[in-house]
Amino acid sequence: MTNTPDFHSKEKIRQDAYLEKLRTLTEDLFAERKAPLTFHVVTFGCQMNAKDSEKLSGVLKAAGFLMSETEDADLVLFNTCTVRDNADQRLFGRLGRLSHLKKKRPHAKIALCGCMMQEASNVEKIKKSYPYVDLIFGTHNLYRFPEYLYTMYTQDAPVIDIWEKTDDILEDLPTDRKYPFKSGVNIMFGCNNFCSYCIVPYVRGRERSREKEEILAEIRTLVQSGVKEVMLLGQNVNSYGRGLEKACTFPELLREVSHVEGLARVRFMTPHPKDFSPELLQVIAEEKTVARHIHLPLQSGSTKILREMNRRYTKEDYLSLAERIRRDLPDVAITTDIIVGFPTETMEDVEDTLDVIDRVQFDNAYTFIYSPRRGTPAAALPKALTDEEIHAAFDRVLARVQHNARIRAGLLEGETHTALFEEVNEKDPSLITGRLSNNMIVHVPGDPSLIGSFRKVFLKECHGFYYFGEIAKE
Ligand code: SAH
Ligand code: SF4
Ligand code: F3S
Repeated sequence: MTNTPDFHSKEKIRQDAYLEKLRTLTEDLFAERKAPLTFHVVTFGCQMNAKDSEKLSGVLKAAGFLMSETEDADLVLFNTCTVRDNADQRLFGRLGRLSHLKKKRPHAKIALCGCMMQEASNVEKIKKSYPYVDLIFGTHNLYRFPEYLYTMYTQDAPVIDIWEKTDDILEDLPTDRKYPFKSGVNIMFGCNNFCSYCIVPYVRGRERSREKEEILAEIRTLVQSGVKEVMLLGQNVNSYGRGLEKACTFPELLREVSHVEGLARVRFMTPHPKDFSPELLQVIAEEKTVARHIHLPLQSGSTKILREMNRRYTKEDYLSLAERIRRDLPDVAITTDIIVGFPTETMEDVEDTLDVIDRVQFDNAYTFIYSPRRGTPAAALPKALTDEEIHAAFDRVLARVQHNARIRAGLLEGETHTALFEEVNEKDPSLITGRLSNNMIVHVPGDPSLIGSFRKVFLKECHGFYYFGEIAKE
Protein backbone atom coordinates (compact mmCIF):
# COMPACT_ATOMS: atom_id res chain seq x y z
CA MET A 1 0.00 0.00 0.00
CA THR A 2 1.15 3.53 -0.70
CA ASN A 3 0.29 4.50 2.86
CA THR A 4 3.55 5.25 4.65
CA PRO A 5 4.05 4.96 8.42
CA ASP A 6 5.36 8.52 8.15
CA PHE A 7 2.09 9.86 6.73
CA HIS A 8 0.16 7.89 9.30
CA SER A 9 1.95 9.14 12.40
CA LYS A 10 2.29 12.73 11.17
CA GLU A 11 -1.37 13.03 10.29
CA LYS A 12 -2.44 11.31 13.51
CA ILE A 13 -0.43 13.79 15.57
CA ARG A 14 -1.93 16.69 13.58
CA GLN A 15 -5.52 15.55 14.07
CA ASP A 16 -4.93 14.72 17.75
CA ALA A 17 -3.67 18.27 18.22
CA TYR A 18 -6.89 19.62 16.69
CA LEU A 19 -8.91 17.38 18.99
CA GLU A 20 -7.07 18.85 21.95
CA LYS A 21 -7.81 22.41 20.77
CA LEU A 22 -11.45 21.42 20.19
CA ARG A 23 -11.77 20.18 23.75
CA THR A 24 -10.69 23.59 25.07
CA LEU A 25 -13.11 25.23 22.65
CA THR A 26 -16.11 23.11 23.67
CA GLU A 27 -15.29 23.68 27.37
CA ASP A 28 -15.25 27.46 26.77
CA LEU A 29 -18.53 27.33 24.85
CA PHE A 30 -20.03 25.18 27.61
CA ALA A 31 -19.05 27.79 30.20
CA GLU A 32 -20.36 30.64 28.03
CA ARG A 33 -23.72 29.05 27.17
CA LYS A 34 -24.11 27.16 30.44
CA ALA A 35 -25.03 24.03 28.48
CA PRO A 36 -22.93 21.30 26.89
CA LEU A 37 -22.69 21.22 23.08
CA THR A 38 -24.84 18.52 21.52
CA PHE A 39 -24.58 16.71 18.17
CA HIS A 40 -26.76 14.51 16.03
CA VAL A 41 -25.42 12.33 13.19
CA VAL A 42 -27.79 11.13 10.44
CA THR A 43 -26.45 8.27 8.29
CA PHE A 44 -27.64 7.34 4.82
CA GLY A 45 -26.38 4.45 2.70
CA CYS A 46 -24.37 1.32 3.26
CA GLN A 47 -22.33 -0.38 5.99
CA MET A 48 -19.28 1.65 5.00
CA ASN A 49 -21.12 4.86 5.79
CA ALA A 50 -22.37 3.35 9.04
CA LYS A 51 -18.76 2.61 9.96
CA ASP A 52 -17.68 6.14 8.99
CA SER A 53 -20.47 7.59 11.13
CA GLU A 54 -19.13 5.73 14.16
CA LYS A 55 -15.87 7.62 13.63
CA LEU A 56 -17.67 10.96 13.25
CA SER A 57 -19.52 10.35 16.52
CA GLY A 58 -16.30 9.16 18.13
CA VAL A 59 -14.49 12.37 17.21
CA LEU A 60 -17.37 14.54 18.42
CA LYS A 61 -17.57 12.74 21.75
CA ALA A 62 -13.78 12.94 22.16
CA ALA A 63 -14.06 16.67 21.43
CA GLY A 64 -16.49 17.11 24.30
CA PHE A 65 -19.86 17.07 22.53
CA LEU A 66 -22.84 15.15 23.90
CA MET A 67 -24.91 12.92 21.63
CA SER A 68 -28.50 14.08 21.04
CA GLU A 69 -31.28 11.72 19.97
CA THR A 70 -32.95 14.45 17.90
CA GLU A 71 -31.99 17.01 15.27
CA ASP A 72 -32.59 19.76 17.82
CA ALA A 73 -28.83 19.87 18.43
CA ASP A 74 -25.90 22.31 18.27
CA LEU A 75 -24.38 20.38 15.40
CA VAL A 76 -26.29 18.23 12.90
CA LEU A 77 -24.13 16.16 10.58
CA PHE A 78 -25.46 14.25 7.57
CA ASN A 79 -23.32 11.41 6.23
CA THR A 80 -24.75 11.09 2.73
CA CYS A 81 -25.22 8.41 0.07
CA THR A 82 -25.74 8.92 -3.66
CA VAL A 83 -26.12 5.38 -4.99
CA ARG A 84 -29.66 6.10 -6.24
CA ASP A 85 -31.47 9.37 -6.84
CA ASN A 86 -33.90 8.80 -3.95
CA ALA A 87 -30.92 8.95 -1.55
CA ASP A 88 -30.11 12.45 -2.88
CA GLN A 89 -33.73 13.55 -2.64
CA ARG A 90 -33.99 12.35 0.96
CA LEU A 91 -31.01 14.49 1.91
CA PHE A 92 -32.37 17.60 0.21
CA GLY A 93 -35.72 17.05 1.95
CA ARG A 94 -34.09 16.75 5.37
CA LEU A 95 -31.86 19.74 4.70
CA GLY A 96 -34.80 21.91 3.70
CA ARG A 97 -36.63 21.05 6.91
CA LEU A 98 -33.56 22.01 8.94
CA SER A 99 -33.65 25.69 7.95
CA HIS A 100 -35.75 26.35 11.06
CA LEU A 101 -32.95 25.03 13.29
CA LYS A 102 -30.78 28.06 12.57
CA LYS A 103 -33.62 30.38 13.53
CA LYS A 104 -34.28 28.54 16.76
CA ARG A 105 -30.63 28.05 17.64
CA PRO A 106 -28.49 30.79 16.09
CA HIS A 107 -25.28 28.98 17.06
CA ALA A 108 -26.35 25.68 15.51
CA LYS A 109 -24.10 24.25 12.81
CA ILE A 110 -25.00 22.00 9.90
CA ALA A 111 -22.37 19.74 8.33
CA LEU A 112 -22.45 17.38 5.34
CA CYS A 113 -20.07 14.64 4.31
CA GLY A 114 -20.04 11.30 2.47
CA CYS A 115 -20.53 10.09 -1.08
CA MET A 116 -23.02 12.69 -2.29
CA MET A 117 -20.51 15.45 -1.57
CA GLN A 118 -18.02 13.96 -4.06
CA GLU A 119 -20.33 15.20 -6.85
CA ALA A 120 -19.48 18.81 -7.69
CA SER A 121 -23.04 19.51 -8.88
CA ASN A 122 -24.44 18.55 -5.47
CA VAL A 123 -22.03 20.85 -3.65
CA GLU A 124 -22.95 23.70 -6.03
CA LYS A 125 -26.65 23.12 -5.41
CA ILE A 126 -26.10 23.14 -1.64
CA LYS A 127 -24.07 26.35 -1.75
CA LYS A 128 -26.85 27.99 -3.74
CA SER A 129 -30.02 26.60 -2.21
CA TYR A 130 -28.95 25.80 1.35
CA PRO A 131 -26.42 28.55 2.17
CA TYR A 132 -26.79 27.85 5.89
CA VAL A 133 -24.62 24.72 5.65
CA ASP A 134 -21.40 25.33 7.62
CA LEU A 135 -19.15 22.43 6.67
CA ILE A 136 -18.83 20.11 3.67
CA PHE A 137 -16.23 17.41 3.17
CA GLY A 138 -16.06 14.18 1.17
CA THR A 139 -15.17 10.52 1.49
CA HIS A 140 -11.39 10.81 1.02
CA ASN A 141 -10.68 13.31 3.80
CA LEU A 142 -12.90 12.12 6.65
CA TYR A 143 -9.81 11.66 8.81
CA ARG A 144 -9.41 15.45 8.83
CA PHE A 145 -12.75 15.86 10.63
CA PRO A 146 -11.15 17.21 13.86
CA GLU A 147 -9.36 19.88 11.82
CA TYR A 148 -12.49 20.85 9.87
CA LEU A 149 -14.55 21.07 13.05
CA TYR A 150 -12.02 23.36 14.65
CA THR A 151 -11.85 25.58 11.56
CA MET A 152 -15.65 25.72 11.37
CA TYR A 153 -15.86 27.00 14.95
CA THR A 154 -13.06 29.52 14.57
CA GLN A 155 -13.75 31.14 11.19
CA ASP A 156 -16.82 32.89 9.84
CA ALA A 157 -17.08 31.46 6.34
CA PRO A 158 -18.29 27.91 5.62
CA VAL A 159 -15.59 25.24 5.42
CA ILE A 160 -15.70 23.28 2.16
CA ASP A 161 -13.03 20.73 1.25
CA ILE A 162 -13.57 17.96 -1.31
CA TRP A 163 -10.71 15.82 -2.62
CA GLU A 164 -10.67 14.06 -5.96
CA LYS A 165 -8.75 11.09 -4.60
CA THR A 166 -6.36 9.86 -1.97
CA ASP A 167 -3.86 7.05 -1.59
CA ASP A 168 -3.70 7.38 2.16
CA ILE A 169 -5.60 5.48 4.81
CA LEU A 170 -5.95 6.68 8.39
CA GLU A 171 -8.33 4.43 10.27
CA ASP A 172 -7.62 4.96 13.93
CA LEU A 173 -9.85 7.91 14.70
CA PRO A 174 -11.76 7.75 17.99
CA THR A 175 -14.80 5.53 17.36
CA ASP A 176 -18.19 5.45 19.05
CA ARG A 177 -19.60 2.01 18.25
CA LYS A 178 -23.35 1.68 17.85
CA TYR A 179 -23.26 -1.85 19.24
CA PRO A 180 -20.70 -2.81 21.90
CA PHE A 181 -20.72 -6.46 20.78
CA LYS A 182 -20.44 -6.18 16.98
CA SER A 183 -18.53 -4.00 14.57
CA GLY A 184 -17.78 -3.45 10.91
CA VAL A 185 -14.12 -3.53 9.92
CA ASN A 186 -12.93 -1.95 6.69
CA ILE A 187 -10.61 -4.25 4.81
CA MET A 188 -10.50 -2.16 1.64
CA PHE A 189 -11.77 1.10 0.25
CA GLY A 190 -13.06 2.17 -3.15
CA CYS A 191 -13.89 0.06 -6.17
CA ASN A 192 -12.28 -0.59 -9.55
CA ASN A 193 -15.12 -2.51 -11.16
CA PHE A 194 -17.00 0.32 -12.83
CA CYS A 195 -20.29 -1.51 -13.27
CA SER A 196 -21.88 0.71 -15.90
CA TYR A 197 -24.79 1.85 -13.68
CA CYS A 198 -22.83 2.51 -10.51
CA ILE A 199 -21.49 5.74 -9.06
CA VAL A 200 -19.53 4.18 -6.19
CA PRO A 201 -16.15 4.01 -8.04
CA TYR A 202 -16.47 7.75 -8.77
CA VAL A 203 -17.30 8.79 -5.23
CA ARG A 204 -15.21 6.30 -3.26
CA GLY A 205 -12.17 6.27 -5.54
CA ARG A 206 -9.79 3.51 -6.56
CA GLU A 207 -9.54 0.25 -4.71
CA ARG A 208 -7.09 0.24 -1.79
CA SER A 209 -6.58 -2.70 0.59
CA ARG A 210 -5.47 -2.41 4.20
CA GLU A 211 -2.49 -4.45 5.35
CA LYS A 212 -3.57 -7.76 6.91
CA GLU A 213 -1.72 -7.07 10.17
CA GLU A 214 -3.53 -3.74 10.60
CA ILE A 215 -6.89 -5.44 10.11
CA LEU A 216 -6.03 -8.23 12.56
CA ALA A 217 -4.73 -5.74 15.13
CA GLU A 218 -7.99 -3.76 14.89
CA ILE A 219 -10.05 -6.93 15.34
CA ARG A 220 -8.00 -8.07 18.35
CA THR A 221 -8.51 -4.68 19.98
CA LEU A 222 -12.23 -4.85 19.23
CA VAL A 223 -12.45 -8.33 20.78
CA GLN A 224 -10.66 -7.08 23.90
CA SER A 225 -13.28 -4.37 24.23
CA GLY A 226 -16.18 -6.85 24.05
CA VAL A 227 -16.84 -7.36 20.32
CA LYS A 228 -17.99 -10.88 19.45
CA GLU A 229 -18.93 -10.48 15.81
CA VAL A 230 -17.22 -8.51 13.04
CA MET A 231 -18.24 -7.78 9.47
CA LEU A 232 -15.38 -7.36 7.00
CA LEU A 233 -16.33 -4.52 4.68
CA GLY A 234 -15.38 -3.77 1.08
CA GLN A 235 -17.17 -3.10 -2.21
CA ASN A 236 -15.61 -6.21 -3.69
CA VAL A 237 -13.98 -8.21 -0.92
CA ASN A 238 -12.93 -10.93 -3.37
CA SER A 239 -10.32 -8.65 -4.85
CA TYR A 240 -8.85 -7.88 -1.40
CA GLY A 241 -5.06 -7.87 -1.33
CA ARG A 242 -4.18 -6.37 -4.71
CA GLY A 243 -1.19 -4.07 -4.36
CA LEU A 244 -0.30 -5.07 -0.81
CA GLU A 245 3.34 -5.29 0.19
CA LYS A 246 2.80 -8.69 1.83
CA ALA A 247 0.61 -10.71 -0.52
CA CYS A 248 -2.66 -11.92 0.99
CA THR A 249 -5.91 -13.07 -0.63
CA PHE A 250 -9.41 -12.65 0.79
CA PRO A 251 -9.80 -16.36 1.69
CA GLU A 252 -6.46 -16.22 3.53
CA LEU A 253 -7.51 -13.10 5.41
CA LEU A 254 -10.91 -14.58 6.28
CA ARG A 255 -9.29 -17.72 7.65
CA GLU A 256 -6.93 -15.74 9.86
CA VAL A 257 -9.71 -13.50 11.11
CA SER A 258 -11.83 -16.53 11.95
CA HIS A 259 -8.98 -17.76 14.19
CA VAL A 260 -8.76 -14.56 16.26
CA GLU A 261 -9.16 -15.71 19.84
CA GLY A 262 -12.43 -14.65 21.43
CA LEU A 263 -14.15 -13.79 18.15
CA ALA A 264 -17.38 -15.79 17.80
CA ARG A 265 -18.58 -14.82 14.33
CA VAL A 266 -17.24 -13.19 11.20
CA ARG A 267 -19.34 -11.89 8.30
CA PHE A 268 -18.23 -10.23 5.09
CA MET A 269 -19.79 -7.90 2.55
CA THR A 270 -19.76 -7.76 -0.49
CA PRO A 271 -18.22 -10.53 -2.60
CA HIS A 272 -18.46 -10.11 -6.39
CA PRO A 273 -19.60 -13.24 -8.26
CA LYS A 274 -16.96 -12.75 -10.98
CA ASP A 275 -14.07 -13.67 -8.71
CA PHE A 276 -15.61 -15.86 -6.04
CA SER A 277 -12.92 -18.52 -5.68
CA PRO A 278 -13.13 -22.20 -4.69
CA GLU A 279 -10.69 -21.32 -1.88
CA LEU A 280 -13.30 -18.98 -0.39
CA LEU A 281 -15.91 -21.75 -0.44
CA GLN A 282 -13.42 -24.01 1.28
CA VAL A 283 -12.72 -21.50 4.06
CA ILE A 284 -16.47 -21.00 4.64
CA ALA A 285 -16.93 -24.79 4.75
CA GLU A 286 -14.07 -25.36 7.19
CA GLU A 287 -14.24 -22.37 9.50
CA LYS A 288 -17.40 -22.49 11.56
CA THR A 289 -16.77 -18.98 12.91
CA VAL A 290 -17.61 -17.72 9.41
CA ALA A 291 -21.32 -16.86 9.25
CA ARG A 292 -23.57 -19.13 7.19
CA HIS A 293 -24.50 -16.32 4.82
CA ILE A 294 -23.27 -15.16 1.42
CA HIS A 295 -24.59 -11.94 -0.06
CA LEU A 296 -23.99 -12.45 -3.77
CA PRO A 297 -25.33 -9.57 -5.87
CA LEU A 298 -26.91 -10.85 -9.10
CA GLN A 299 -28.10 -7.49 -10.52
CA SER A 300 -29.64 -9.21 -13.55
CA GLY A 301 -30.28 -12.75 -14.75
CA SER A 302 -29.79 -11.85 -18.41
CA THR A 303 -26.36 -12.43 -19.89
CA LYS A 304 -26.95 -9.60 -22.35
CA ILE A 305 -27.76 -7.13 -19.57
CA LEU A 306 -24.93 -8.40 -17.39
CA ARG A 307 -22.55 -7.67 -20.27
CA GLU A 308 -23.95 -4.17 -20.64
CA MET A 309 -23.68 -3.70 -16.88
CA ASN A 310 -19.98 -4.68 -17.13
CA ARG A 311 -20.48 -7.33 -14.45
CA ARG A 312 -18.12 -9.80 -16.14
CA TYR A 313 -20.13 -12.99 -15.50
CA THR A 314 -22.95 -14.69 -17.39
CA LYS A 315 -26.27 -16.09 -16.23
CA GLU A 316 -24.71 -19.56 -16.41
CA ASP A 317 -21.61 -18.52 -14.39
CA TYR A 318 -23.86 -17.18 -11.64
CA LEU A 319 -26.12 -20.23 -11.64
CA SER A 320 -23.23 -22.66 -11.44
CA LEU A 321 -21.65 -20.71 -8.55
CA ALA A 322 -24.97 -20.64 -6.69
CA GLU A 323 -25.51 -24.36 -7.34
CA ARG A 324 -22.07 -25.09 -5.99
CA ILE A 325 -22.79 -23.08 -2.83
CA ARG A 326 -26.11 -24.90 -2.34
CA ARG A 327 -24.39 -28.27 -2.87
CA ASP A 328 -21.23 -27.77 -0.81
CA LEU A 329 -22.66 -25.48 1.86
CA PRO A 330 -26.32 -26.48 2.31
CA ASP A 331 -26.69 -24.47 5.53
CA VAL A 332 -25.52 -21.21 3.93
CA ALA A 333 -28.16 -18.61 3.05
CA ILE A 334 -27.72 -16.82 -0.28
CA THR A 335 -29.05 -13.28 -0.55
CA THR A 336 -28.74 -10.89 -3.45
CA ASP A 337 -29.29 -7.45 -5.01
CA ILE A 338 -31.35 -7.09 -8.19
CA ILE A 339 -31.79 -4.04 -10.42
CA VAL A 340 -34.95 -3.76 -12.55
CA GLY A 341 -35.19 -1.29 -15.41
CA PHE A 342 -31.56 -1.06 -16.56
CA PRO A 343 -31.90 1.09 -19.75
CA THR A 344 -31.58 -1.66 -22.35
CA GLU A 345 -33.54 -4.24 -20.34
CA THR A 346 -36.51 -5.82 -22.15
CA MET A 347 -39.28 -8.07 -20.79
CA GLU A 348 -37.31 -11.05 -22.08
CA ASP A 349 -34.37 -10.02 -19.88
CA VAL A 350 -36.70 -9.71 -16.90
CA GLU A 351 -37.82 -13.32 -17.58
CA ASP A 352 -34.17 -14.36 -17.26
CA THR A 353 -33.94 -12.62 -13.89
CA LEU A 354 -37.13 -14.39 -12.73
CA ASP A 355 -35.66 -17.68 -13.91
CA VAL A 356 -32.50 -17.19 -11.82
CA ILE A 357 -34.61 -16.19 -8.81
CA ASP A 358 -36.55 -19.44 -9.10
CA ARG A 359 -33.53 -21.62 -9.68
CA VAL A 360 -31.38 -20.20 -6.87
CA GLN A 361 -34.27 -19.70 -4.41
CA PHE A 362 -32.65 -16.74 -2.72
CA ASP A 363 -33.08 -16.54 1.02
CA ASN A 364 -33.64 -12.83 0.63
CA ALA A 365 -33.08 -10.11 -1.96
CA TYR A 366 -32.94 -6.34 -2.20
CA THR A 367 -34.64 -5.20 -5.38
CA PHE A 368 -34.03 -1.74 -6.82
CA ILE A 369 -35.42 0.22 -9.72
CA TYR A 370 -32.55 1.43 -11.89
CA SER A 371 -31.65 5.05 -11.19
CA PRO A 372 -29.52 6.90 -13.76
CA ARG A 373 -26.36 8.33 -12.19
CA ARG A 374 -24.62 11.32 -13.71
CA GLY A 375 -21.37 10.45 -15.51
CA THR A 376 -21.90 6.67 -15.54
CA PRO A 377 -21.93 4.96 -18.99
CA ALA A 378 -25.44 3.49 -18.49
CA ALA A 379 -26.95 6.94 -17.99
CA ALA A 380 -26.31 7.66 -21.69
CA LEU A 381 -28.14 4.54 -22.94
CA PRO A 382 -31.61 4.74 -24.50
CA LYS A 383 -34.48 3.26 -22.46
CA ALA A 384 -36.21 0.14 -23.79
CA LEU A 385 -39.13 -0.08 -21.33
CA THR A 386 -41.67 2.51 -20.19
CA ASP A 387 -41.92 3.48 -16.52
CA GLU A 388 -45.19 1.52 -16.23
CA GLU A 389 -43.53 -1.58 -17.67
CA ILE A 390 -40.60 -1.19 -15.30
CA HIS A 391 -42.88 -0.88 -12.27
CA ALA A 392 -44.88 -3.92 -13.35
CA ALA A 393 -41.65 -5.90 -13.83
CA PHE A 394 -40.39 -4.72 -10.45
CA ASP A 395 -43.58 -5.94 -8.77
CA ARG A 396 -43.23 -9.34 -10.40
CA VAL A 397 -39.58 -9.64 -9.35
CA LEU A 398 -40.37 -8.57 -5.80
CA ALA A 399 -43.30 -10.99 -5.50
CA ARG A 400 -41.18 -13.88 -6.77
CA VAL A 401 -38.32 -13.03 -4.43
CA GLN A 402 -40.66 -12.83 -1.45
CA HIS A 403 -42.41 -16.07 -2.35
CA ASN A 404 -39.10 -17.95 -2.49
CA ALA A 405 -37.74 -16.29 0.64
CA ARG A 406 -40.80 -17.46 2.60
CA ILE A 407 -40.24 -21.03 1.43
CA ARG A 408 -36.56 -20.89 2.37
CA ALA A 409 -37.25 -19.40 5.80
CA GLY A 410 -39.97 -21.99 6.44
CA LEU A 411 -37.38 -24.76 6.17
CA LEU A 412 -35.86 -23.86 9.55
CA GLU A 413 -39.17 -23.62 11.44
CA GLY A 414 -39.14 -25.99 14.40
CA GLU A 415 -35.34 -26.15 14.51
CA THR A 416 -32.98 -24.80 17.15
CA HIS A 417 -30.23 -22.39 16.07
CA THR A 418 -27.83 -19.94 17.70
CA ALA A 419 -28.65 -16.23 17.64
CA LEU A 420 -26.68 -13.18 18.68
CA PHE A 421 -29.14 -10.89 20.46
CA GLU A 422 -28.84 -7.32 19.26
CA GLU A 423 -31.61 -5.04 20.50
CA VAL A 424 -35.00 -4.54 22.09
CA ASN A 425 -37.74 -4.93 19.47
CA GLU A 426 -38.82 -1.45 18.34
CA LYS A 427 -42.53 -2.26 18.18
CA ASP A 428 -42.84 -4.54 21.18
CA PRO A 429 -40.38 -3.92 24.03
CA SER A 430 -41.17 -7.30 25.62
CA LEU A 431 -39.32 -8.91 22.68
CA ILE A 432 -35.58 -9.03 22.07
CA THR A 433 -34.32 -9.32 18.51
CA GLY A 434 -31.51 -11.62 17.53
CA ARG A 435 -29.73 -12.58 14.32
CA LEU A 436 -28.94 -16.14 13.26
CA SER A 437 -25.67 -17.03 11.60
CA ASN A 438 -27.54 -17.10 8.26
CA ASN A 439 -28.61 -13.48 8.88
CA MET A 440 -32.27 -14.31 9.60
CA ILE A 441 -33.97 -12.36 12.36
CA VAL A 442 -35.66 -13.94 15.39
CA HIS A 443 -37.75 -12.23 18.08
CA VAL A 444 -37.99 -13.86 21.51
CA PRO A 445 -39.72 -12.86 24.73
CA GLY A 446 -36.98 -11.74 27.09
CA ASP A 447 -35.26 -8.86 28.78
CA PRO A 448 -32.42 -6.59 27.65
CA SER A 449 -29.86 -8.66 29.59
CA LEU A 450 -29.92 -10.99 26.56
CA ILE A 451 -28.43 -8.26 24.36
CA GLY A 452 -24.89 -9.03 23.30
CA SER A 453 -25.13 -12.76 24.06
CA PHE A 454 -25.22 -15.82 21.82
CA ARG A 455 -28.07 -18.12 22.81
CA LYS A 456 -29.70 -21.18 21.37
CA VAL A 457 -33.21 -20.36 20.12
CA PHE A 458 -36.10 -22.60 19.18
CA LEU A 459 -37.57 -21.17 15.95
CA LYS A 460 -41.21 -21.64 16.81
CA GLU A 461 -43.02 -19.77 14.02
CA CYS A 462 -41.75 -18.52 10.71
CA HIS A 463 -43.33 -15.25 9.58
CA GLY A 464 -41.77 -15.01 6.16
CA PHE A 465 -38.71 -12.91 6.80
CA TYR A 466 -38.35 -13.44 10.53
CA TYR A 467 -39.20 -15.93 13.24
CA PHE A 468 -40.85 -15.83 16.61
CA GLY A 469 -38.82 -18.04 18.91
CA GLU A 470 -38.03 -19.06 22.45
CA ILE A 471 -34.72 -19.32 24.22
CA ALA A 472 -33.88 -23.04 24.25
CA LYS A 473 -32.53 -24.83 27.31
CA GLU A 474 -28.75 -25.16 26.93
N1 SAH B 1 -20.32 -3.39 -4.30
C1 SAH B 1 -21.57 -3.98 -4.16
C2 SAH B 1 -22.76 -3.06 -4.24
C3 SAH B 1 -22.74 -1.67 -3.74
S1 SAH B 1 -24.14 -0.70 -4.12
C4 SAH B 1 -21.74 -4.97 -5.30
O1 SAH B 1 -21.08 -4.94 -6.29
O2 SAH B 1 -22.64 -5.73 -5.19
C5 SAH B 1 -25.48 -1.69 -3.52
C6 SAH B 1 -26.48 -2.07 -4.54
O3 SAH B 1 -27.13 -0.92 -5.05
C7 SAH B 1 -25.94 -2.76 -5.78
O4 SAH B 1 -25.72 -4.11 -5.58
C8 SAH B 1 -27.01 -2.50 -6.80
O5 SAH B 1 -27.97 -3.53 -6.82
C9 SAH B 1 -27.65 -1.22 -6.33
N2 SAH B 1 -27.33 -0.11 -7.23
C10 SAH B 1 -26.13 0.44 -7.48
N3 SAH B 1 -26.24 1.43 -8.40
C11 SAH B 1 -27.56 1.51 -8.73
C12 SAH B 1 -28.30 2.34 -9.62
N4 SAH B 1 -27.72 3.26 -10.37
N5 SAH B 1 -29.64 2.14 -9.70
C13 SAH B 1 -30.25 1.19 -8.95
N6 SAH B 1 -29.59 0.39 -8.10
C14 SAH B 1 -28.25 0.54 -7.98
FE1 SF4 C 1 -20.66 -0.51 -7.82
FE2 SF4 C 1 -20.00 -2.65 -9.21
FE3 SF4 C 1 -18.22 -1.55 -7.57
FE4 SF4 C 1 -20.33 -2.82 -6.57
S1 SF4 C 1 -18.68 -3.75 -7.78
S2 SF4 C 1 -19.54 -0.84 -5.92
S3 SF4 C 1 -21.93 -2.35 -8.04
S4 SF4 C 1 -19.05 -0.64 -9.40
FE1 F3S D 1 -24.12 4.94 -0.81
FE2 F3S D 1 -21.60 5.57 -0.79
FE3 F3S D 1 -22.37 3.32 0.28
S1 F3S D 1 -22.98 5.93 -2.46
S2 F3S D 1 -24.17 2.76 -0.90
S3 F3S D 1 -22.92 5.30 0.99
S4 F3S D 1 -20.46 3.67 -0.78
